[in-house]
Amino acid sequence: MKAIRIHKFGPTEDVLQYEDVPVPEPKAGEILIKVEAASLNRADLGLRKGTYRISADALPLIAGREFAGTVEKLGAGVNEYQIGQRVVAYPSLGGYAEYAVAKTSEVRPVPQGVTSAHAAATPTVFLTAWFGLLTDGNLKAGEWLLVQGGSSGVGNAAIQIAKHLGAKVVTTSGSEEKCRRLRQLGADVTIDVSENDFLPEVMRVTNNRGVDVVLEMIGGDVYQKSLQALAPGGRLFSIGGAFGAIPDSPPALSDDRKATRFSITNYLKAKPDDFKQLDEILKLVQEKKFQVVIGKSFPLAETRAAQRYLEGREHFGKVILTM
Ligand SMILES: NC(=O)c1ccc[n+]([C@@H]2O[C@H](COP(=O)([O-])OP(=O)(O)OC[C@H]3O[C@@H](n4cnc5c(N)ncnc54)[C@H](OP(=O)(O)O)[C@@H]3O)[C@@H](O)[C@H]2O)c1
Repeated sequence: MKAIRIHKFGPTEDVLQYEDVPVPEPKAGEILIKVEAASLNRADLGLRKGTYRISADALPLIAGREFAGTVEKLGAGVNEYQIGQRVVAYPSLGGYAEYAVAKTSEVRPVPQGVTSAHAAATPTVFLTAWFGLLTDGNLKAGEWLLVQGGSSGVGNAAIQIAKHLGAKVVTTSGSEEKCRRLRQLGADVTIDVSENDFLPEVMRVTNNRGVDVVLEMIGGDVYQKSLQALAPGGRLFSIGGAFGAIPDSPPALSDDRKATRFSITNYLKAKPDDFKQLDEILKLVQEKKFQVVIGKSFPLAETRAAQRYLEGREHFGKVILTM
């Protein structure tokens, strides 16, 4: 089969090698999946660079934390899936390939009418937004949420989940065109950060009170200023610093405000059964209540171009590989 392998870590996408490798064999409790689509995530860039939860002992490796396709072969003891069934998998590695294996606990069925591309693009961003907003964020109907980086995959998901929960959403993005699309997704207020400082705008739309919850993923100055956007009792949760540093330990804040860090990987490690929440999310996708936005698709052979595209700031929503 064809796959994209990394033999050495590197700062640019040149280390991604398109090559022939043996089809993996499913072990007991695993499924072999014929991959139709795999989704790119910013974490894949860290993996390629050797900075994200990986050591050199794991090389050579196939990246790709999530993918969708059809069941090709069942490992010993697997009886809850059938050959030919459409599934989505979230095993954290292996998806940049024509075939990949996953444990049954990392696999869910794909409902009719949901494409493999949409299914592959769902787990990381929707589960992060869902559990981040409901646990650390504790977001409730009627509250204001600020989503930094609304055009990102997680941002797109968070806006829709927040509206589904009955909250009000203000979000930031780097262009007016992206802001227009974010309003179409349901954002109540958008701020084009290429034109405006977000903090005075957030204070203006909330009548100087600030927001109840911030979903932060940019880091640096944006993180620091987002703390100032919190109303008394407000909760900021950071999921990463895509473009700047975030403090190792969140700062202590006044007036019952709270800052935390949220990781979907750590969350699901502690509560593996919550992965099944994906069924409800995919049902909402099937019912067209949630939109999985695919910014651009690339064939597997062009994964280098796909990562370059993700690393730039052009995309809106998810970047996908098709096999
Ligand atoms: N902790 C977790 O569990 C978890 C899970 C998933 C993802 N993440 C992290 O969350 C982040 C987003 O992931 P993703 O894959 O959804 O991202 P992504 O699609 O790569 O998008 C990142 C977006 O950030 C926006 N941005 C950059 N600078 C900005 C600024 N100064 N102000 C506002 N927006 C800015 C850009 O949009 P514009 O061009 O519109 O500005 C860019 O499209 C990454 O850091 C990722 O590693 C964490």
